[in-house]
Amino acid sequence: MANEQQYKLKTLYLATRGVKEYRSSIANYVQPNDRLLEIGCEWGTTSELLYNECQNLIATDISNKCIERARRKRPYIHFETLDVYDIKKALSFKINFNKMYIDVSGLSGYRSLLDVVSLLDMYARVFDMDLIVIKSGALKNFAKRVSRI
Ligand SMILES: C[S@@+](CC[C@H](N)C(=O)[O-])C[C@H]1O[C@@H](n2cnc3c(N)ncnc32)[C@H](O)[C@@H]1O
Repeated sequence: MANEQQYKLKTLYLATRGVKEYRSSIANYVQPNDRLLEIGCEWGTTSELLYNECQNLIATDISNKCIERARRKRPYIHFETLDVYDIKKALSFKINFNKMYIDVSGLSGYRSLLDVVSLLDMYARVFDMDLIVIKSGALKNFAKRVSRI
């Protein structure tokens, strides 16, 4: 049950619809001294935009092929393979990430809304994130209909 002793998260979740909106948040929300984790980087198009604002970035994807291609195209960016569900591996990077960008195929629609909420909550708590930006039209739509008394 909620009470005054309960740990209060500081994380702001920014739900975006479509890749244009997802990327357009970077200029307003990323600062040079951030510690960034990107999940679902494919071959690094968004990583490049993140890197332009903040070089302290680890960009990740589940696909080895994507990561190999990303490393070839952008050797100056730190790319690693990571399954978003493998939080132990995310912890093994030994960086106290404060901001995260996540765009994982299969996690943007209504069917995965519950998975998305629990995943974001897990990353927010484990890393004590300031901000998580996610590409999920379903979450954005849901959040619009949630209000506070
Ligand atoms: C739409 S693409 C990402 C595009 C990229 N964010 C961009 O802006 O160019 C989605 C990516 O999610 C990755 N992906 C799918 N399942 C994943 C998982 N469980 N963990 C991490 N990445 C995953 C895919 O390999 C794919 O590269």
